[in-house]
Amino acid sequence: MSLIESCVAEYVSRFGTQPAFVVRAPGRVNLIGEHTDYNDGFVMPLAIDRHTVIALSPLDNDRMMLHSVEHAEQLDVDLNTLTRDKMSWREYPKGVAKALQDAGYALTGWQGVTTCDVPMGAGLSSSASYELAIARAFAVTSGFPWDPAKMARLGQKAENEWVGVNCGIMDQMISASGREGHAMLIDCRDLATRAVPLPDDTAIVILDTATRRGLVDSAYNERRQQCEAASAFFGVKMLRDVSLETFEARAETLDPIVRQRTRHVITENARTEEAAKAMEQGDAERLGQLMNASHDSLRDDFEVTNDELNTIVNIAREQSGCLGARMTGAGFGGCAVALVRSKKLDKFINSVCDTYTTKTALSPNIYTCKASEGAHEVVLHESVIAS
Ligand code: GLA
Repeated sequence: MSLIESCVAEYVSRFGTQPAFVVRAPGRVNLIGEHTDYNDGFVMPLAIDRHTVIALSPLDNDRMMLHSVEHAEQLDVDLNTLTRDKMSWREYPKGVAKALQDAGYALTGWQGVTTCDVPMGAGLSSSASYELAIARAFAVTSGFPWDPAKMARLGQKAENEWVGVNCGIMDQMISASGREGHAMLIDCRDLATRAVPLPDDTAIVILDTATRRGLVDSAYNERRQQCEAASAFFGVKMLRDVSLETFEARAETLDPIVRQRTRHVITENARTEEAAKAMEQGDAERLGQLMNASHDSLRDDFEVTNDELNTIVNIAREQSGCLGARMTGAGFGGCAVALVRSKKLDKFINSVCDTYTTKTALSPNIYTCKASEGAHEVVLHESVIAS
């Protein structure tokens, strides 16, 4: 049974009728452009074929009633009296509802069931997919149009202010706006997007190191502060506004750590724009080289990799048919992403898995992903309705 079918089946068994709507929003993997979003820079993620799904129907009152399949628990709140509680999966829908209300949207209540196949905590943005699925659920019940940039900003606001995680805009923006078969070059200053086709005859492979680091939040916030210190030093709003020439002219007088962080952000922005051009020219090899350079910069200058990420990236790069590999997401554990020739894919997966397990005694999770649409309403086929 597909994720959509099981979500609909659960809805039918709980509420005794068919849902009026099914919506879903994807997780993401970032191809290139890491730790640039909160510097108003460029990122190029793709929405993956793993989603948060919600089957739902509007209510004629102001309640939001949601059953989570994964947590086997229920949320039941009055949309007029939303308050923060102890952190749990329930805070995300409440936070998104509040952000929508604060932005002036009049919300209609609904009842629904949610389920998700984005692995949680792996760095593939299950939280953003959940936020955008909730926003999409409100869009269909309350009848407002889907504006990806607006919805992404409100999802981010929920995460920053209600859930209390200080993320940038990338994850929400790609979950809101992804395009099938494409990565999206996103300018994180004005949220302009450009859909860039993925190279032919290649696969995007996610390599989960099976390591998680507890202090990701504090290390992430520290990187943000270092970037802010750098923009203050250069007297600009954001590091996006510093050119390579300006940086090089003044680099000597910068604090050494801040200098490294700045060099990463400036060179990563340039690599990301170049990667989009390479893809538009069908140059998969150049894209792979840029991905490799991105990892090296994240390892040496931004210092957000860990041993396992470096190990899995090195193993990936040694395989024939691998055009490039790098860590993806916040770092300090989690996933890497590799660009691999399709005809070498099976061998690549087996070899990376075996070699990584031999070297680390860990079992990696490996996913080949397709680039998918951003948050959308799913049109149900007869077969799903009958099941
Ligand atoms: C996390 C954040 C994003 C972004 C990346 C690093 O995924 O949620 O906003 O900053 O880290 O590129």
